[in-house]
Amino acid sequence: MKTLTSESLRKMYLDFFKSKGHAVIASASLIPENDPTVLFTTAGMHPLVPYLLGEKHPAGKRLTDVQKCVRTGDIDEVGDSSHCTFFEMLGNWSLGDYFKDEMIPWSFEFLTSPEYLGIPVEDIAVTCFAGDADCPRDEESANKWIKCGILPKNVYFLPKSGNWWGPAGTTGPCGPDTEMHIIRNHAEADKLNSDQFDDAPKGTFLEIWNDVFMQYNKNEQGKYEPLAQKNVDTGMGLERTLCILNGKDSVYETDIFEKAIAKIEELTGHKYNENEQTTKAFRVVLDHVRTATFMLGDAKGIVPSNTDQGYILRRIIRRAVRFGRNIGLPQGALNEISKTIVEKYADIYPELVANSGKIEEELNKEEAKFSRTLAQGIKEFEKVAATLPAGGAIDGVTAFHLYDTYGFPVEITVEMAAEKGLKVDVDGYNAAFTEHQNKSRAGSEQKFACGLADHKEETTYLHTATHLLHAALKKVCSDEIAQKGSNITEERLRFDFNFSRKLTPEEVAEVENLVNGVIKQDLPVVMREMPLEQAREEGFTGLFESKYGEVVKTYTIGDFSKEICGGPHAEHTGLLGTFKIAKQENVSAGVKRIKAVLIK
Ligand code: ALA
Repeated sequence: MKTLTSESLRKMYLDFFKSKGHAVIASASLIPENDPTVLFTTAGMHPLVPYLLGEKHPAGKRLTDVQKCVRTGDIDEVGDSSHCTFFEMLGNWSLGDYFKDEMIPWSFEFLTSPEYLGIPVEDIAVTCFAGDADCPRDEESANKWIKCGILPKNVYFLPKSGNWWGPAGTTGPCGPDTEMHIIRNHAEADKLNSDQFDDAPKGTFLEIWNDVFMQYNKNEQGKYEPLAQKNVDTGMGLERTLCILNGKDSVYETDIFEKAIAKIEELTGHKYNENEQTTKAFRVVLDHVRTATFMLGDAKGIVPSNTDQGYILRRIIRRAVRFGRNIGLPQGALNEISKTIVEKYADIYPELVANSGKIEEELNKEEAKFSRTLAQGIKEFEKVAATLPAGGAIDGVTAFHLYDTYGFPVEITVEMAAEKGLKVDVDGYNAAFTEHQNKSRAGSEQKFACGLADHKEETTYLHTATHLLHAALKKVCSDEIAQKGSNITEERLRFDFNFSRKLTPEEVAEVENLVNGVIKQDLPVVMREMPLEQAREEGFTGLFESKYGEVVKTYTIGDFSKEICGGPHAEHTGLLGTFKIAKQENVSAGVKRIKAVLIK
């Protein structure tokens, strides 16, 4: 077998497929376009879905590339020898052009020819689709492999769980595949038939490449419909292949991480292979810093946040900080390590260089943020953990406290607990999280609803108009409407409420008419103080979260509006003038905003 670097393997793969008439295309963004079902690009075929479904690709019907991918399903496994959250996939595609007749001999040539990978034929095993009700058994591929020279004893047939690929999301192109494996342990391999393939002792086979014969589309009903065109989609993991070819035990020992490992050793004084713990910490830091660097450096770059891709990024950076602490990585180190990554990939992914300022800023910011609370949070965690029996569970409220106060993503708490043989009540955490969200929403409502800082006449009139608007919206649009926020200046009122859409012009007119009708009636605005419980029983709108027995102010306007509120208000509605809705805005999918004025 050849000894290759990442640079030479990329070039060799692309050159090989160029020689077979393929156009080399650039890696697409890590953030998928138009696919809400996945957060990141997970395979080379992902950005090509429209073309696999029949759209014409500007570069032609034969394509090859190296695609940046992120798979985050196994973040907690990162630290062992093989898992990475970021990886590069070497791939080639036929968009309704060549099929098995070409692809299998090409795969054979690339794997075995001395000009390319030069793997001995007897060291290669292949698996083919065993067949089921959706798609027939793939004897055709098996025969082609044998014709090329693969030993018949090294051909296995596996069901959908083993030899089917896709779709990338929940629907889309997919099909049976044939996978190529390096046999690392012949004695074990020779004992196995197809049914036992999946139970082979770890390390018997190492998968190196996958050729998918994409001829189906999985539809929303879960049915496999034949595609109009027959495609080929292949994927070879760059890091894994390097590792296999170079006889390394782990992807972290390939040239990709050489400089980054040297940097961590320099910064910490520890060696990568000092002991099991340091090796694990090094690997977590290496993988996570690389992934964070690519996410931040992507053309469609993201930043750490509390939702979607941003949350994954935050979780990855924070996990790197936590493991970095175990080997004494100083603050600011993530960026130092990231610089070695940017340097390593500068020629292939120039976006990393272009975005290096942003990568540095965001890494430093997120690291500093978490570093401030990490030690304290660990102390808190240790305290709780010490009170639990072996196998006990950290309760949801504590897990939420660790998140809310110390910034521990719950997944990190789960991992820390597992290190001590403990569990976490994740359902309880989710419940505490939701309760907190409701409370903070309620909290802001309370703040907005109760009491005006400014007691000028105009402001108090607008305050009264806000109550009328609230009541009118309930009558015209939905009884479910509740205040989500309010802000009043001398000139206008602003009222946020839960509703899925803007009001129609008719609804706007109806709300205005109702409010102006009450103003014309010149009704008194009556304030009464009463215990909260009584206010609840009497049907006042407001918050009922305070302690039992608390006395609250209530404001009643005829039988039109009844609200708990700090006031002050106009004494009677006739003072208000003419009510007019000036503007509607979208706050979020479920919250709308109205700005309104009173005209004298
Ligand atoms: N799409 C195939 C894979 O990811 C090639 O394995």
